[in-house]
This record gives sequence, C-alpha cells and structure tokens, in this order.
Amino acid sequence: MCGIVGYTGEKAAAPVLLDGLAKLEYRGYDSAGIAVLEKEGLQVVRRRGKVAELAHTVGHFDLTGTCGIGHTRWATHGRPSEANAHPHASCAGDIAVVHNGIIENFAELREELEGRGHVFRSETDTEVVSHLIEEAYVANPDISLVEALRLACTRLVGSYGLAVTCEREPGVIVVTRQDMPIIIGVASDGAYVASDAIAVIGATRDVVLLADQQYAKLTPEGAEYTDERGRAIEPQLTHISWDVDVAEKGGYPDFMLKEIYEQPRVIRDTLAGRLIGGRLEIDELDMTSEELNLVDRVYVIACGTSYHAGLIAKELIEGWARIPTEVEVASEFRYRNPIITPTTLVVAVSQSGETADTLAAIRDARIKGARVFGITNVLGSPVARESDGVIYTKANKEIAVASTKSFLGQIVSLTLLAMLLAQAKGKLRMNQIRLLFRELADTAEQVEQILADTSDIQKAATACVDATSALFIGRGMGAAIAKEGALKLKEISYLHAEAYAAGEMKHGPIALIEDGFPVIAIATDSPVYDKVVSNLQESKARGACIIVIATEGNEHIRELADYVIYIPKVRDGFSAITATVPLQLLARSIAVMRGCNVDQPRNLAKSVTVE
Ligand code: G6P
Repeated sequence: MCGIVGYTGEKAAAPVLLDGLAKLEYRGYDSAGIAVLEKEGLQVVRRRGKVAELAHTVGHFDLTGTCGIGHTRWATHGRPSEANAHPHASCAGDIAVVHNGIIENFAELREELEGRGHVFRSETDTEVVSHLIEEAYVANPDISLVEALRLACTRLVGSYGLAVTCEREPGVIVVTRQDMPIIIGVASDGAYVASDAIAVIGATRDVVLLADQQYAKLTPEGAEYTDERGRAIEPQLTHISWDVDVAEKGGYPDFMLKEIYEQPRVIRDTLAGRLIGGRLEIDELDMTSEELNLVDRVYVIACGTSYHAGLIAKELIEGWARIPTEVEVASEFRYRNPIITPTTLVVAVSQSGETADTLAAIRDARIKGARVFGITNVLGSPVARESDGVIYTKANKEIAVASTKSFLGQIVSLTLLAMLLAQAKGKLRMNQIRLLFRELADTAEQVEQILADTSDIQKAATACVDATSALFIGRGMGAAIAKEGALKLKEISYLHAEAYAAGEMKHGPIALIEDGFPVIAIATDSPVYDKVVSNLQESKARGACIIVIATEGNEHIRELADYVIYIPKVRDGFSAITATVPLQLLARSIAVMRGCNVDQPRNLAKSVTVE
C-alpha cells in the first residue's frame, strides 16, 4: 500500500528519492515525504497529495545531502494530512522513520511512551518507532543505529518494512522487515532501498530481497546484513529480469492501456516452456503426478480481481479434472473453519503476492495440513515464499491499480493448473492436452486481433458515460467474466456496476432496468448461449440499452443488441481470456470520458497489505 525508498551514496539524495517515489506512487497516493540528512541536520519535507506536489515543495528547499529516505502513503491509521505523512521524527528530530504495514500494538506503546514524556505529532502507528529508537539510545547511548532499531523492533507487534536514518550516523540508512517487502540494491554510485524493485532496478538489477527479521545497514560503500540477534549473514542476490521501461508509459496515455496491450505477450510468456514432449510440466509446483492424483478438493483463495480468476479456475478444474473446487475471498476463508485434509490443495492467487488476507489464509491452510500453491506475479513475494509451490504469471510489473494483464496471466496459469490436475488424474489424454495447449496459445493472437480494432468498444462506451449504474450479466464462464467486467468499471469510473448470473436477473436486478439502462452481456458461443439471449430479451423488453460481447460471425445478435463487440471464436473454457479484454477497454474508455484518473482511482491501493 505505502511505498518506501532510501538512498545513500555520492549523488544528491532528494532527486533520487523523488524519482523512486514517483515510481512507487501507484501503491498509495494520499501523501508523501522525504527526510534528507543535511549539514545542519535532518531536513524533513512532507506534503498531502501526490508526489508531484511534494516535488514542487522540495524545489523550494536547497537539499544537497546525499543520504535520505522517502515514503508515499495510503492512509490506514490517521487521515491523509501533512502531519500524518512520513517520515516521522523522534522528539529531538534527529531520527527519521518511514514504514509500510501496521504496528498493531501502537496504542499501548504510544501510551507508554507518552507516559515517559515523548511528544507525538501525528495520529499514525508509525511514529512509535522513532520514539522507541530514541528510547533505545537513552538506555544504551553507545549503540549503533542498527542495534537501536533491533531493540525497538522487539517491542513491535504487527507487520513492517522500516527504513531509518539518524544524525548520529551520517550516511547510514538501516532497514528491516516483517511481512512487508524490502529490496536492497548496491550500485557503483551508492546503496538503494525500496519496498518494490521498481524503484531500485534503474540503478541495479541484482538485488537482495530482505527476509523477515533481517537487518541491513546501508552506507555509500554498500550494505551489511545481520539477523535478529545481530549475527552477520551472507545476502543472496536475485536478478530482476524485467525492463526498467515498465515504469514508463511507452507512448500510451496511461499505464492501464499500456498493460492491456501487453496481454498477448503475457499469454505467450506464461505458456513458454510448459509443454514438453506433449506433456504439461510445471516443475515449480514440486509435486509428482502421483501426489497430484490424490488431490480430492481444491480451494482457490484470493481477493479482488484475483478472486475472479479463481471463479474461472473453478469452471476449468471441475470441468476437466472433476475435482470439487471452492473459490473463497481470503478475508472470509481465514476466519472460517474450512474442511481441509492432507489431500486438499489450496491455490492462493495474488498479483502482488503480499495481500494481507491472502497471506493469512495461506498460513492458516498450511497449519491445517493443506498443500498450498501460490500464483503470483512478484518474484520472491511473501505468497511465493510461503507456498509449497509457485507459478509465476509473467505479467511483469503492473502499475495501474486496476489489474488487467496480471488477471490474464492468472487465468492462463490457472488453466495450466487445471490441465495438469486433469493430466495427473488421467481425465485428459496427451492428445487432448496438446490440442488444448495449442488453442490456449492461440488466444495470444486472438487478443491481438481484439486490440487491433477497438472502435466498437468506443461506441459502446459512449452509451454508458452518463449512466448512473450498469448491469453485467452472463452464465457459466460468462457469469465469472461479468463479475470482473463490473469490478473494472466501478473501480476506475466510479459508476455503480453490478454483475449477476443472467438467469437470476429476474429475481431482483430486473427491477433496476428502465429506458437506456446499460446491460452488458457476455453472450459468446457456449452451451448456455440461448439462455443468455432469453435473458437479454427480458432486458430489452424493459428498455435496457444492450451491449453484447459476442462471437464473430453471430449476425443474429444484432437484432437484439444496441451495440455488439465481436471477439474471435474460442472454446468456452478459454472465453474468459478473450471476453475480458473488451470489458477492460470498455471500463477504461468510460472512465476516461468521465474524466477519471484510470491509473490511480480514488481510495484504492494496488496491494492491500492490511487486513
Ligand atoms: C487490490 C487491487 C486489486 C487486486 C486486489 C488483490 O484491491 O486494487 O487490483 O485485485 O487488491 O490483490 P492481489 O495482489 O492479491 O492480487
């Protein structure tokens, strides 16, 4: 949610920090700040609003210091305001702290610290950390900053990625983490740290992904790593292969559009190397065919768009592998008492790999004895680390808050998993697997075809701009796709949208329909096509404006629909890949016409690292 950056080296720190914050802004964007160590002491500059506003303010200061930390915030404890923006200083103002996550016991710590005379200047949970470090120095005046941070952390309950700088040790930044990412890169011009590789890879692609309860001390010369007891540890370097230009719009007006257009590549990359000698191979799952064959129940757990990928997976796993599959939002799953046995497979789907509820659900499922597979887009993310096996979606960095290309990567990965389970259970023969794989690979080209001409999508979008609400309907696969279409629209255009299984429409939502009310239907070729058409007729009879996603060549539908968006013919099982794309574009076009910031919708965050 929030984003952290830090730099110590030979360059002026402020521009490096502002550049890093701009790259991280997609994570949270209600306030931002930096602290730079100047000759006269720590200089903290904070602003409510976007990083550009902070950059403007920083321009009025003459910051030349070469060591500093920065933060972009998505409010949890305390409203968005300058006082609540990070960095947070100690009473003496000589220690500055930036933080991702939540300190759960902050209220009691604050009371205790206030009781000892500390004066708090914000409503945040983070501020306790600067005061705890200050206290550590009072009790042990000669300790180092990293030791002071280690002592402070012994008091913390919750999750944190922390970066700290202090006047006592000029040129030093210390960092640690618990459940929040911290990535460190050492380049020829200094040491960089961030909560996301995107803010580091401009300097170096060989990074250290700090593990929980590890500490790093960054200096202009490099970084030293220790564990929670202060013992030196040897860091492991991870090479980040995706290009730094993912953080650029590359000629597109917004990241969302750029990412929508990247989807054919995502499909190809996610499939690359998976079919070997006619057999499907996903070695990273680390499970033999015999073990997979024993799986008798699947839970897919996820949040948001990833949950919708799970709904599609259910259709495929049950359809091909014939294994009963439940799809649950992680925030519910973790507080239920689901039936889990040693032959239960839990599939956790998370673009960011750090969604708090999904992580908690993984931990719970493992304690109860399930095997957990993670499907994530972020290398070395907590979901990847805490699962028994992982499939990476190869979408590369996704910047727009509303998920598009990673959703397609998830669907393709889950489709492979469904095929793998069916292969292991002997429900799909090798020739069937080969055929399915070929058709799946063909969807890359079919998506390219959809992206090549979006004029009909534009026309349909115009019909929705002034609506106050919209209904998305479909059946089977179409019902799951409808949910994602509605979510995309409400996320970025603030237009109320609801998705319904088309057959259920007459049990309630049909009452909403009046003249011109947009009904968007997924009516591609499928065993339930005729049923969807009947439901559309019911809507038409009540004056709805009908927009249909239909299969190429279906001229008949024009009689019923006000707008038709054609997509290439694919088997029903793969229709989520193709039909989702026009819905993403439709939502985006409507949002742009309504003047919304499609990349950074209000109140939302790219990854939700709090419960
Ligand atoms: C947030 C994002 C969504 C995303 C959801 C789940 O709400 O705005 O785009 O689908 O989190 O995130 P995950 O990273 O776990 O897929």
